[in-house]
Amino acid sequence: MSRGESTGRCVVWVGRPSVEEHFGLIRAGWRTVVADPARQDAELPECGDATIAVVDLRASAQAAVRILAGLRESHPDMTWIGLTSVRTPVRDPSVRHVLPHAFEIVDGPSSFSALRRALARVPGDGPTRIDDQPSMLTGTSPAIRALSQNIRKFAPVELPLLITGETGTGKEMAARALHQISSRSDRPFAAINCGALPANLVQSELFGHERGAFTGATARRIGHFESADGGIVFLDEIGDLPLDAQTNLLRVLQEGTIERIGSCQSIKVDVRVLAATHVDLEKAVAQGRFREDLFYRLNVLRLRMPPLRERQGDIELLAQHFLDTFRESYGTRARAFSANARKAMNAFAWPGNVRELMNRVQRAAVIAEDALITPEDLELSLDATAGDRDSLGSARTSAEREAIVDCLRASAFNISECARRLRVSRVTVYRLCKKHQLALDQLR
Ligand SMILES: Nc1ncnc2c1ncn2[C@@H]1O[C@H](COP(=O)(O)OP(=O)(O)OP(=O)(O)O)[C@@H](O)[C@H]1O
Ligand SMILES: [Mg+2]
Repeated sequence: MSRGESTGRCVVWVGRPSVEEHFGLIRAGWRTVVADPARQDAELPECGDATIAVVDLRASAQAAVRILAGLRESHPDMTWIGLTSVRTPVRDPSVRHVLPHAFEIVDGPSSFSALRRALARVPGDGPTRIDDQPSMLTGTSPAIRALSQNIRKFAPVELPLLITGETGTGKEMAARALHQISSRSDRPFAAINCGALPANLVQSELFGHERGAFTGATARRIGHFESADGGIVFLDEIGDLPLDAQTNLLRVLQEGTIERIGSCQSIKVDVRVLAATHVDLEKAVAQGRFREDLFYRLNVLRLRMPPLRERQGDIELLAQHFLDTFRESYGTRARAFSANARKAMNAFAWPGNVRELMNRVQRAAVIAEDALITPEDLELSLDATAGDRDSLGSARTSAEREAIVDCLRASAFNISECARRLRVSRVTVYRLCKKHQLALDQLR
């Protein structure tokens, strides 16, 4: 078990957080201490009074509950949150009996945002922010400065905002930054990925339903628009929103009202809508997949997230930021990047943008043998990525194409394997193939 500091606000994670969970908490500003029930020498961590426990009941639930009991002895007023999984519900009676004492039970591991919401509702001063807003958008490049300026300008204006940009460029992060400097900052920020929701559930997720509205609707459900009243609803991958939900969204934007499914009563909601897309919505409109009137409503204010390859100077800054943040929780040898690693990072095309950079840096930090991270640790090669800075645009584009082709070859043209190696989604690999006119069948 790693030890925490004795003061300040602290999350004790009873269990083994994934890197994303651990890193996410740190990014959200929480000092995080891991109490791993599997460790024989497990001592209780030292934390101040403002301690919150996240008790991971997905594995070793009994041992986790034992540690929790010890924690509650030393911190009687401590808030704790249970983390379960729908796939492995808690059945053990010795564990179930403590559940009613939890502040909230959230379903992990996919529900990190639910966890963050739960943590935000815990009474107290809230987490200490690592970065001021919107400087949480790390970077000093002209592109990111211009973006920050726009975020400041758009924050006080109560109009919808459309955020565009490639995958992993920080669209959600920009939306959160805007929320935090807006007058709605003390109200909810509800992030919904329209592409991840099954089409038949979208309406219910967004607008709620009444009991008996459809088979399986055994109780009334409040949708995100209603529960985020006074705050911001962030609709990610808005291009994937089914047409019927688009109609209802238009109504929210025009009239400020919703109707739960199965009810014809209009409910007034006060939410600001921010939407993000990595697809060309104009094209989707032309193809009849996206309502034109909704597009114009959403597109009043527009924020374009620059791809990482256009953010000169930020790559090294971000890489060091991710390494430093990682080092706060894991004792790694790596402290900085070798000259060659910096060169390779600056020359690389970063198809997965900031997310890919973060993933590569985290992985490199784990495997690095030295104080300086090498290109090999980052799985970047100097020659394959070398580009001419003067003709950056085309060099980067061809570097990107080469990187994809190389990776596809190395992965025997297996898309999943290629996506894993590039640390991007399969959809991104397909999109990049399309962008660079790579005919997979012919390449194979
Ligand atoms: N400027 C930044 N500083 C620090 N971290 C960043 C920055 N921009 C993005 N990130 C991190 O990169 C990751 C991707 O960001 P985010 O989820 O906001 O991207 P996105 O554009 O919404 O991606 P997608 O298109 O895949 O939904 C996140 O983990 C985020 O914390
Ligand atoms: Mg996103």
